[in-house]
Amino acid sequence: MPKEKILILDFGSQYNQLIARKVREHNVFCEIVPPATDIRSIDRNETKGIILSGGPASVYAPGAPLCDTRIFSLGIPVLGICYGMQLMTKILGGEVARSRSREYGRASLIVSNHKHLFKSVPHESVTWMSHGDKVKRMPKGFKRIAASKNTPVAAFANFEKRLYGVQFHPEVAHTKFGRNIIGNFLKDICCARNDWSMKSFVKETVSEIRSKAGKGRVVLGLSGGVDSSVAAVLINKAIGHRLVCIFVDNGLLRKNEAKRVREIFQKHFKINLKCVDASDEFLQGLKGVIDPEKKRKIIGKTFIKVFEREAKRIGSVEYLAQGTLYPDLIESRSAFGGPSATIKTHHNVGGLPKRMRLKLIEPLKYLFKDEVRKVGGELGMHKDVLGRHPFPGPGLAVRIIGEVTKERCDILREVDDRFISSIQNEGLYDEIWQAFAVLLPIKSVGEMGDERTYENVVALRAVTSVDGMTADWARIPQEILAKISNRIINEVKGVNRVAYDISSKPPATIEWE
Ligand code: XMP
Repeated sequence: MPKEKILILDFGSQYNQLIARKVREHNVFCEIVPPATDIRSIDRNETKGIILSGGPASVYAPGAPLCDTRIFSLGIPVLGICYGMQLMTKILGGEVARSRSREYGRASLIVSNHKHLFKSVPHESVTWMSHGDKVKRMPKGFKRIAASKNTPVAAFANFEKRLYGVQFHPEVAHTKFGRNIIGNFLKDICCARNDWSMKSFVKETVSEIRSKAGKGRVVLGLSGGVDSSVAAVLINKAIGHRLVCIFVDNGLLRKNEAKRVREIFQKHFKINLKCVDASDEFLQGLKGVIDPEKKRKIIGKTFIKVFEREAKRIGSVEYLAQGTLYPDLIESRSAFGGPSATIKTHHNVGGLPKRMRLKLIEPLKYLFKDEVRKVGGELGMHKDVLGRHPFPGPGLAVRIIGEVTKERCDILREVDDRFISSIQNEGLYDEIWQAFAVLLPIKSVGEMGDERTYENVVALRAVTSVDGMTADWARIPQEILAKISNRIINEVKGVNRVAYDISSKPPATIEWE
């Protein structure tokens, strides 16, 4: 990891990951850490600045999250945002006014001091507020540097000690000059070097993997998705054939997936790849099962069994590599585990490291998804791999409502192939966050020539989203939907009706099971 960083103390705000991303947009590395982080673990040379995040609590509430009070006397610049500003106020002897109603939404900020934090920020600009309490009396040594109509102390500073607080959220897009404000904190106040880039990440991580793995061998479950693919190419760059990737064909994959994975990773990247066709084993286990959670459990267990068996065949292996990303890491250790924690439980390889008694290598664990894509770009990976829609671990099993059989998988594979290739041809693929087809457990009447048919119904689902937590149905133009429907019904035997899903998440989910 880079030598310079910003620490973000996590007081539970929904915007915390956004703060981290905004800091990294300035090419400065940062880490989100629990609020009670021991200050002895803070390296004064490496840590160029500390950001105290916002949070839902009131600083006077019993059990409100605190930080070590000595954090303000380390000589490291601190920026408190919302709750972080209020906590700074309380700890340093000022006073916070409790309020019964929240101020939520846009507020006009009037800057009274343009030094440092508000350099190049206009006298008046739009900011985003979301708070109940506010600063009533500033601690000694602090000066007000901005106000808003409802918040007399909307920002303050102790210039000498380089301590700053803002009541608004500079990390959200609605704060017009938020990017400049964060940039000023990093460059002007923390004197951070701005040299964190994906290029430097690749270089440093390759050498870290080399020294960590030593002469040992590493095994990785390659799914063909963005995260495991980038992890595989990165580790392969570091240790070559001492990385063995295992690709399990569970019979629930998209059309030609195994072939595609072989072509990209074995042929192009020359990765040591073992492809295992375990589809019979998976389908056998799923026989007669219709409950979605049961399907997931069976698939998860079977995957572990197959993977373990294959890994044993390789011989001695010391490390298991995984494509864990930063949001997973934050959610799994945060005291305020956010809603995305539920997505994690979907992961069906969670039990592997413990069972196999392997040490972990997780080279992407400090990265966000968009950064992983950039790393992939640095490694020469193609847009087709990096821009791929997410695909669930249990695959088609949760897109076949009712019993999963090979025949039904084959029908769905064909439908999915026509749907995806059509939206690719229409230039819509990258605008859509995820698109797929669902096979319903009903048949409907139709006619073909002079004959009546009684065949399958499929639903098409396409959503727009930022992170999969919320989603809206994609407004694919009607004429294109008509073309897609015709194509599917004409080309896929066994389907005579196509429906388009127009539900948003919430209350619906993206997948149907
Ligand atoms: P939902 O259906 O919960 O989906 O709105 C949100 C995102 O998660 C994916 N998903 C899964 N991914 N195993 C996975 O690896 C699963 O069991 C699973 N279920 C849903 C879904 O495809 C979407 O991207």
